[in-house]
Amino acid sequence: MTGPGAEALLARAAGRLLDWYGAHARPLPWRDNPQPYRVWVSEVMLQQTRIEAVKPYFARFMEALPTVGHLARAPEDQVLKLWEGLGYYSRARSLHRAAKDVMEKYGGEIPGTVKGLLALPGVGRYTAGAVASIAFGEDAAAVDGNVLRVWSRLLCREEDVLSPAVRKRAEEELAAALPSGRAGDFNQAIMELGEVVCVPRSPRCGGCPLEDICEARALGVEGSLPVKAPKKPRRVEKRTVFWLTCGGKVALRQRPGKGLLAGLWEPPSCEGWLEGPDALAFLQGWGMRAGPLRALPPTKHVFSHLEWHMHNWAAQVEAPGGGFTWASPGQLERDMALPSAFSPELLALAGMGAAVENVK
Ligand code: ADE
Repeated sequence: MTGPGAEALLARAAGRLLDWYGAHARPLPWRDNPQPYRVWVSEVMLQQTRIEAVKPYFARFMEALPTVGHLARAPEDQVLKLWEGLGYYSRARSLHRAAKDVMEKYGGEIPGTVKGLLALPGVGRYTAGAVASIAFGEDAAAVDGNVLRVWSRLLCREEDVLSPAVRKRAEEELAAALPSGRAGDFNQAIMELGEVVCVPRSPRCGGCPLEDICEARALGVEGSLPVKAPKKPRRVEKRTVFWLTCGGKVALRQRPGKGLLAGLWEPPSCEGWLEGPDALAFLQGWGMRAGPLRALPPTKHVFSHLEWHMHNWAAQVEAPGGGFTWASPGQLERDMALPSAFSPELLALAGMGAAVENVK
């Protein structure tokens, strides 16, 4: 459905959504106290992770860095450590840079409009709309994947929701339907409906406040919407990872300041899969002598555009070296963010059990 019919339908849906949200909104820490900084941090975390998984991260983050000033002054390692396991670390780095901008350029006040927020590093239309509407009451739309799903089903739109043009149209149509002064509630209502009722597979239409006005439901096609054009297949990279220990410490190196997993710590690795003798020779190339290599289970990590397929070797080396940082369990736990691509279980299997007791 398009045109005036669609406008009327969205307006009707908006009233129902607000009522439904009034009765069903989940109590969430950033909702109970929607200060701009809290809303901003929560929205950045929620872009990549489910609400239940975000809660403990959010609590730890707020305890360690309760204001935008604390975040701006924090060392990057601390911010990355607090983000450890959430993934998409570039978002944490952008958030950190944006907090510095807020302190240096905006006198410590987070901008209160979509336009002002968009000027901060890493803030896109979704985050700007969510923060402006939820924390500042601006009439702005915030369109994420959940919202696109509800929108496409309600209006039975069969265009590819991954296309920027379709997202833009959804944003415009939803902006036109926003109940003035209640955009924050409307945005959260439609997101929440997408998360708990209008879910991707097997939507729970029986519990949906929009069931009787949903175009896709009327046609019985809700299960096949939204349409998403197939993405390019991810590139696969084979890697060999070395879990080297010496005197209760493990060898780590810091990734470069730019690019994938920038600034995070990782065990040394190389491209390709090396079998035992070649792996041993590689270690010698780093100037290290090791006892026998132990094969650990292979692991796989999926990024949005890339997959790492990893073969893992553990070894005790005779002396720390190789130009690596040799980290104790305490250091690892306190200060060094190890991305979940390098599974904590492997650290334990490599003989660093104490280091992983407190790793999520
Ligand atoms: N998903 C992302 N942000 C959300 C919010 N504020 N409420 C409900 N779901 C969300």
